Amino acid sequence: QRHLISAADLTRDDAVLILDTAEEMARVADRPIKKLPTLRGRTVVNLFFEDSTRTRISFEAAEKRLSADVINFSAKGSSVSKGESLKDTAQTLEAMGVDAVVIRHGASGAPYRLANSGWIDAAVINAGDGTHQHPTQALLDAFTLRRRLVGRDTGLGQDLSGKRITIVGDVLHSRVARSNVDLLHTLGAEVTLVAPPTLVPVGVESWPCEVSYDLDSTLPKCDAVMMLRVQRERMNAAFFPTEREYSRRYGLDGDRMARLPEHAIVMHPGPMVRGMEITAEVADSGRCTAVEQVANGVSIRMAVLYLLLGGNEPAVTHSRTEEK
Ligand code: CP
Repeated sequence: QRHLISAADLTRDDAVLILDTAEEMARVADRPIKKLPTLRGRTVVNLFFEDSTRTRISFEAAEKRLSADVINFSAKGSSVSKGESLKDTAQTLEAMGVDAVVIRHGASGAPYRLANSGWIDAAVINAGDGTHQHPTQALLDAFTLRRRLVGRDTGLGQDLSGKRITIVGDVLHSRVARSNVDLLHTLGAEVTLVAPPTLVPVGVESWPCEVSYDLDSTLPKCDAVMMLRVQRERMNAAFFPTEREYSRRYGLDGDRMARLPEHAIVMHPGPMVRGMEITAEVADSGRCTAVEQVANGVSIRMAVLYLLLGGNEPAVTHSRTEEK
C-alpha cells in the first residue's frame, strides 16, 4: 500500500520526482482545457475534520483536473458530531468504493493510523494532522523555492542544495515547520528556525536545522524567509507574548524586509494574520509568494495523486514511519 503520511518518509529522489511531475502538471493549468483523463473512474474522498481553505480546495481542484470522482466530507454536519469514530467513518466511505482518502485531522497521527490499521485499503494522503506533518504543504513550498531560486526549467532534476531558508514564528504548533525542516533538509537546504523561546518545541536540538532567537541577524543571510501563522487556537495564553511584543520582535515589516538580500523571497503558507507575523505592506509586496504558493499547491497535489494512483513512475513513497 502506498501513502503520503510524512515529509520525513520522502527520499531526495522521491521529492525531486514529485517536484518534476508537478512542473508537468503546471503545464496542464496553462492549457485552454485544464484536464487530464488520468484518474477517470477513480474516486477520491476529501475527509476534513479540521477547517481548511487552501488545502481542501486545491486538493479538490487537483482531483478534478485529473478527472477523478470527488467526494467532499466535512466533520461538521456529519455523523462525527453524533460520536462516530474515525474507523467507522473511514469504513463507511470505503464501502462506497473509495480509492484514496485525503485526510486532515486535529490529532497528530490520525493519517498514519488510517494508513496502517488495516481498516481500509485506500491510499491515504495526509493533508495536515495536529502539530505533526503537512507534507503537501512542504512539497509546494519546495516547488515554489526551486522555481524562484533555481529556475522553472533549470530546476528540473535539481534539489535545493546550499539554499538558506529561515522559518519564523510559532514553531511549537506548526506542522508546516516540521514538514519543511524534514523536506528542505532532504533536499540539501540549510534551515534556520527563529522563534520566541516559549514557541520552540522540546527536542528541537535533534532536528536537522539551526535555532536562533534573533530575527534581525538572520535575515541578511537567507535566500527565503518563511513566516508562520501564530496559532492562538492551539495555545495557552500564558505561553504567548503580547501581540505588540510578538510583532515587534518576530513580525516581518517593511524595514525588516529591506534587510533581506535583493533576490530573497518572503513565503507564508496561509492563512496570514496581518499585523501579527506579517504586515500588509509585506504581504502585498511583490516579494511575497503566498498567492503563488496556493497556485503551486494544485500542481503538487496533482503530482502526488498521479504518482500514488495513476502514474507508471516509481512510487512516491512507502511510509518508512511504518518500519521504525
Ligand atoms: N496552508 C494551509 O494548510 O492552509 P489551509 O488551512 O487553509 O488549508
